[in-house]
Amino acid sequence: MGEVFFKERFGARPEVTLFVPGRVNLIGEHIDYNGGRVLPCALGVGSTLSLKMRQDDQVTVVSDKFEGAISASLSDDMNQGWARYAFYAVRLAKRLGWVERGADIALVSTLSHGAGLSSSAALCVAVIKALRDVSSMSADDVEIAQLARRIENEDIGVPCGIMDQMAVAVAKPGQALFLDTESLDYDPIPLPTSHRFVVLHSGIHRELADGRYGARKQECDVAKEHFGTNDLCHLTLDDVVGNGALPEPVRRRVRHCITEHHRTVSAATALRDQRMTDFGMLMDESHLSMRDDFEMSVPGIDRLVEEAKVQGAIGARLTGGGFGGCIVACVAADGAEDWERRVLEASPGAFRVQ
Ligand code: GLA
Repeated sequence: MGEVFFKERFGARPEVTLFVPGRVNLIGEHIDYNGGRVLPCALGVGSTLSLKMRQDDQVTVVSDKFEGAISASLSDDMNQGWARYAFYAVRLAKRLGWVERGADIALVSTLSHGAGLSSSAALCVAVIKALRDVSSMSADDVEIAQLARRIENEDIGVPCGIMDQMAVAVAKPGQALFLDTESLDYDPIPLPTSHRFVVLHSGIHRELADGRYGARKQECDVAKEHFGTNDLCHLTLDDVVGNGALPEPVRRRVRHCITEHHRTVSAATALRDQRMTDFGMLMDESHLSMRDDFEMSVPGIDRLVEEAKVQGAIGARLTGGGFGGCIVACVAADGAEDWERRVLEASPGAFRVQ
């Protein structure tokens, strides 16, 4: 499908076509820039990208979701929405000496933008992987993830962690990736067949670049300065409870980091042992911590999480950067369709992602 679309739009065959999935994080939110562990997994939906190098410095990007082509020269800048990610990826590859020229790029995506499912990380990783392949460079997938994060941090200006890029570059379907965001060591854990992780979009769209993500990062920076560490997740609750020198809401933000990290470690063990009731309880606790301590939820998301539980999910929580986007719920595989129909009937605007 990606190749055909490329040929229709550019009148030639692409040199490379590849698929990069979106990701859903099962647990471990906003701790990938605070020294914590996270547990994302690859989605079945994602982006198929086709690319062909050009003889000039132009980068032209088309998508099946948008009319027309977005184009800019590598000696200029591109500041139009989603296509910037692809442009900056080519520019970075040129700076690294992987390629010398621009590229034509076509994107066919089943991933909705602004859903908190890493469509931008998937686009960056896809372009960098495609450029690695055409230039025969030997970068491994972890290096690809690090380069994609650099684009978010330095070019787009979102101070995100490495979770999304690692998940979409490395995770395989049917597994969760238990990732140490400091060392980048990871351990794949098979997903159970007894239960499904269902991802529902709340209908509330948001962008990481809208500033609220950055505001939380800044509050964590205040705590890092206070404690003289980058690693908030490895502080103890005694460090924060009753610490009068730490202002609110920073104290609650740190409490979330500490407890969320511990929940994620416990959740990984529960998943490995297939103790899904325990896993579900940890998801529920995670949602409360995101709602009350990290304050990254919104009422529409809280209602959807609650409906998911009322209808029988064993665990449900907001997933991703927050302030809208998706929830992930763990439901018994048997009866999952009925469960989903009941939740969606009771939740106008919500829809299923996976
Ligand atoms: C976004 C960021 C990630 C991570 C999550 C929250 O998806 O890109 O680095 O911080 O939010 O867990």
